[in-house]
Amino acid sequence: MEKPTILAIVGSLRTGSYNRQLAIEAGRIIADQAEFQLLDFHDVPLFNEDLEHPAPGAVQRVYEAVYAADGIWFFTPEYNHFFSGVLKNLIDWLSRPIKEKGFYVLSGKPAAISGISTGSSGTMIAQDHLVTLISYINMNVMNKPRLVIANALEQTDSQGRLALTSSAPFLERQAKAYVQFVIENKA
Ligand code: FNR
Repeated sequence: MEKPTILAIVGSLRTGSYNRQLAIEAGRIIADQAEFQLLDFHDVPLFNEDLEHPAPGAVQRVYEAVYAADGIWFFTPEYNHFFSGVLKNLIDWLSRPIKEKGFYVLSGKPAAISGISTGSSGTMIAQDHLVTLISYINMNVMNKPRLVIANALEQTDSQGRLALTSSAPFLERQAKAYVQFVIENKA
């Protein structure tokens, strides 16, 4: 059987992002079961309906990457108990039928959500908001298990890099469940 393709969308543009490090670790865990890639969307402009037709090149590129993926795995930071503005902006672009009238690239896509934060909520509140949004645009969300990691600084090494200790088995459990979910639900 062909491996499913899973695209990771990290809601932080920060170079040392813990969420990006978490995504890279997730990709390592599922490397033998899925084709895994991180979406680069740093150049996607602020959404503006005046720019939609034709959509900017950066938007068309991310749109194609999402179209080609069997599943989307979100790694979200938490900013003020919400997910980030850059992630909302990206999803707003992807929620539009930029190529073909009535075609919604995220609709029906199997989605998973993980997140890590330095605070005690561990992105749980941001994740709940993200579930509301991606359910509205009809993504197929794997609600259990989700991965919430609080107090990120307790799981970093002496160079400040993420060194998952107590959370590692939970990431492995979610990764395994999500690959199965994508296989069962891919279009
Ligand atoms: C934060 N942070 C944060 N953490 C948290 O647990 N709950 C929160 O509501 C917030 N709010 C918040 C707002 C803003 C504007 C910033 C910049 C930060 C801290 C956040 O968890 C921390 O910066 C993470 O390292 C961000 O994720 P990345 O960039 O490491 O992936």
